[in-house]
Amino acid sequence: MVQRTSLPSFAKDIMPMFRPDDIACMRPMGVRLNNPDWMTDPGGDPEYPDYANARRVFAVLQKGSMPPDQPWPDAWLTVYQDWMANGFAP
Ligand code: HEM
Repeated sequence: MVQRTSLPSFAKDIMPMFRPDDIACMRPMGVRLNNPDWMTDPGGDPEYPDYANARRVFAVLQKGSMPPDQPWPDAWLTVYQDWMANGFAP
């Protein structure tokens, strides 16, 4: 089990993994990788029951289709998954 003193948060643990180019490329498509309100929006969609924005982002990261040049290492996916499992804190 991962030892920590506080729960993972988007600002501290997740946002630093997105590069400026990731953020810039995705912004025109409405995928707001540097926006805690958007990334932690609890709303669902037809595909995901809740937290659809964060879950849709995770789906492409896990598939390896995003980012297009260099898939995330497994350790980064684990950090993201751990953040989701602990409540999608901003
Ligand atoms: C960590 C980095 C990235 C994440 C999490 C990400 C996330 C996503 C997501 C969730 C979609 C699907 C959008 C939808 O369902 O409406 C998408 C599509 C797309 N992204 Fe990214 N993206 C990343 C990096 C990039 C970069 C760096 C580029 C440009 C060089 C890019 C270009 C595109 C394009 C062209 C699409 C639409 C076509 C496709 O699905 O392949 N993305 N991305």
